[in-house]
Amino acid sequence: MKNELIDLVAWSHFFLSEVLENGDAALDLTAGGGRDTLFLARQVGVAGQVFSFDIQAEAIERTSRLLANTNIEYSRYNNHEGELSRGNGVFLIHASHDRIKDFIPGKVKVVIANLGYLPGGDKNLTTRQETTLAALRQAMAITEAGGRIAVVVYVGHPGGEEEERTVAGFFQDLGETEWKVLKLEPWNRKKPPVLWLAEKW
Ligand SMILES: C[S@@+](CC[C@H](N)C(=O)[O-])C[C@H]1O[C@@H](n2cnc3c(N)ncnc32)[C@H](O)[C@@H]1O
Repeated sequence: MKNELIDLVAWSHFFLSEVLENGDAALDLTAGGGRDTLFLARQVGVAGQVFSFDIQAEAIERTSRLLANTNIEYSRYNNHEGELSRGNGVFLIHASHDRIKDFIPGKVKVVIANLGYLPGGDKNLTTRQETTLAALRQAMAITEAGGRIAVVVYVGHPGGEEEERTVAGFFQDLGETEWKVLKLEPWNRKKPPVLWLAEKW
């Protein structure tokens, strides 16, 4: 099916699907409604691993339901538990994404982060520049060579513009010999979202 040209989430899935294979490990920094986690789970299959974080119980619940409705098995973890096993499957982690290193035992092939607030949820519970930056730093450190990171940033909510500046700075600072970075944004919209893509060499 053809995607809408300016659907940045669809573009993020497209770019990640080019490198993400059956049996790979993948990381979703913001489970939210579960759409990205479901995409990753389908892509890596039962032989792969998906780690998906969210600070909201409602998001973990929504993602669980979406996976259950599509017959994908998952297990749930919370703030108080430590590093996960090396087994396969989808791991839904009810914790802030700046705790990646506490939970994830190895490397991942791709990272996705759809920032902002949970659609239909509490608009005050948005991602924040400090934790987003801490999470991106940890995520880049565990991304395999040949792997990719996709981040969609929304600037319309309070703190969104500051977060976009922080994310832009993060990608700008990635060394050009180790990382290739691409920015995609709808051009004729006011305050459009932005898709950042990075590939590790
Ligand atoms: C735009 S939604 C994510 C959409 C989701 N990826 C999807 O496919 O439906 C943003 C999510 O980030 C979550 N979030 C905010 N701060 C967070 C943090 N520090 N760690 C993990 N998740 C966070 C919110 O609770 C919200 O569910």
